[in-house]
Amino acid sequence: MTKFIVVTGGVISGIGKGVIASSTGTLLKSLGLRVTAIKIDPYLNIDAGLMSPLDHGEVFVLNDGGEVDLDLGNYERFLDVELSRINNITTGKIYSEVIEKERRGDYLGKTVQVVPHITDAIQNWIERVAAMPIDESGEQPDVCIIELGGTVGDIESAPFVEAMRQFQFRVGQENFCLIHVSLIPVVGSVGEQKTKPTQMSVRDLRGAGLTPDLIACRSSAPLNEGVRAKISMFCHVAPEQVLAVRDVSSVYHVPVLMRDVGMIEFFKRRLSLDQIQIPQDRQLQGQKLWNNWLELTQSYDRLFDTVTIAIVGKYTNLHDSYISVYKALEHASLAYRRKLEIRWIEATDLEPEKNKTDPIQYHESWQNLCGADGILIPGGFGSRGIEGMVLAAKWARGHDVPYLGICLGMHIAIIEFARNICDMPDAYSAEMNPKTKTPVVIYMPEISKTHLGGTMRLGLRSTFFQPGTETTSIVRKLHGGKESIQERHRHRYEINPEMVATFEGKGLQFVGKDESGKRMEIVELDNHPFFVGCQYHPEYLTRPLKPAPLFNGLILASLGGLKKA
Ligand SMILES: *[C@@H]1O[C@H](CO)[C@@H](O)[C@H](O)[C@H]1NC(C)=O
Ligand SMILES: *[C@@H]1O[C@H](CO)[C@@H](O)[C@H](O)[C@H]1NC(C)=O
Repeated sequence: MTKFIVVTGGVISGIGKGVIASSTGTLLKSLGLRVTAIKIDPYLNIDAGLMSPLDHGEVFVLNDGGEVDLDLGNYERFLDVELSRINNITTGKIYSEVIEKERRGDYLGKTVQVVPHITDAIQNWIERVAAMPIDESGEQPDVCIIELGGTVGDIESAPFVEAMRQFQFRVGQENFCLIHVSLIPVVGSVGEQKTKPTQMSVRDLRGAGLTPDLIACRSSAPLNEGVRAKISMFCHVAPEQVLAVRDVSSVYHVPVLMRDVGMIEFFKRRLSLDQIQIPQDRQLQGQKLWNNWLELTQSYDRLFDTVTIAIVGKYTNLHDSYISVYKALEHASLAYRRKLEIRWIEATDLEPEKNKTDPIQYHESWQNLCGADGILIPGGFGSRGIEGMVLAAKWARGHDVPYLGICLGMHIAIIEFARNICDMPDAYSAEMNPKTKTPVVIYMPEISKTHLGGTMRLGLRSTFFQPGTETTSIVRKLHGGKESIQERHRHRYEINPEMVATFEGKGLQFVGKDESGKRMEIVELDNHPFFVGCQYHPEYLTRPLKPAPLFNGLILASLGGLKKA
């Protein structure tokens, strides 16, 4: 029987419910348990593909091409699992399932209602995920963590809260545990910690028929003893059921904090985890994972030297849209014991036009760029800022500054190279201008198997290193010399295959291609410490203890540690 841990939130959103949920998963993994996660979002959208990164943060892509938001990325990184679109439940998905069934006549003409039909559909969905094999081993998860988005008491989340209320009886007390994440604000000049909002949100929860097993209190400073007693008394829970989660130096510290206050014992007791037989080898794996995790957090606190990476993109004032890239850089920097310093540079600020409208910003941006140890251009859409990015790529290429271009960033590198080295002054991408005379990047759609009429190349695809690259390619070396790799994609436009020979003649090598040889996946420049572009998104597969190789390459090169063979 799978154990379920439901994580709800109270007071306000954005207080780190996801971090507490994924940290709980990390703790359980350290025991050798198999853990999966579900994120419930009470929106009507069916997937995140059409949502604007501006009001939604990054779109995260799963192996199966599911377009989700950054929370599932968080779970993948913390739990070191690969999830699929079924791990993301939305109101929209549930309703469309129920309506489809109704149209098929599955309800035999009965009145179809939120209770029980929607609430049943939610519970069935959760049970489906819990019954799904977690990886190639074909084994099912021991624990499923369910994060309920929004806050308890919202109109939107009501059907899900009701479904959870029913679900606790469906699976039984010893298989269901609820963590309620709340906020303890501090007010006044003496910094008094206030418990009233927490009391009220727990009251809402109880009113909906759910009882918290653990109240996780987020606060900037450690909880005062009196505060804990107060929450315990007014929320009708034992003092040990109040978990204080103060701000710590990084998200990686949260599992450690939770373990230090006895959470492992708590879950063991509450969920009768001893019932689960854990094979010896998985127990050892779990211990090893934990030791590495501890080491990571300890070294995190002892980082003195920095590595500076400039990210040139759009919406750089909205860092959430590049969260996976940021995480990937952080994981790689930690692996080389460096503190990561990011310089967010808005691409348009590098364009000569800016020198006219805001010369101070223009010069500051260029100074930031030129002073960075390495430059990264992430994926993106739209034509704004392209020229600024091309200038950044030119700087990197011409000054031996390590460069990693992802998706659009790879296209930028190609445009720059074509214009300045291959004598194609009009080189441009057909994505930004379909009528361009010299399209070095063209539309190469792939007919989607999952999205009706979709043309995006989405999800996991293979890249094959080309013959003869065993000794010459830095990227291949970073991947341990493998013949092929699998990475996640999300794009429609690619390097024009007809121009590849021209570029290669001038020293830009296409070292990785798809199985047909027509789609360029990895490009790498001769006679440069690290000038790499990739069509796929390596940032979707990074792990704290297993950084994505291309990011290792960028960081290592930025530290001056990578030499062309
Ligand atoms: C799940 O899909 C919905 C619908 O598009 C999206 O809004 C939400 O962000 C996704 N959630 C996660 C965790 O990916
Ligand atoms: C920016 O503008 C100033 C004043 O017009 C000019 O002197 C300077 O050369 C410009 N700088 C660059 C890098 O174009």
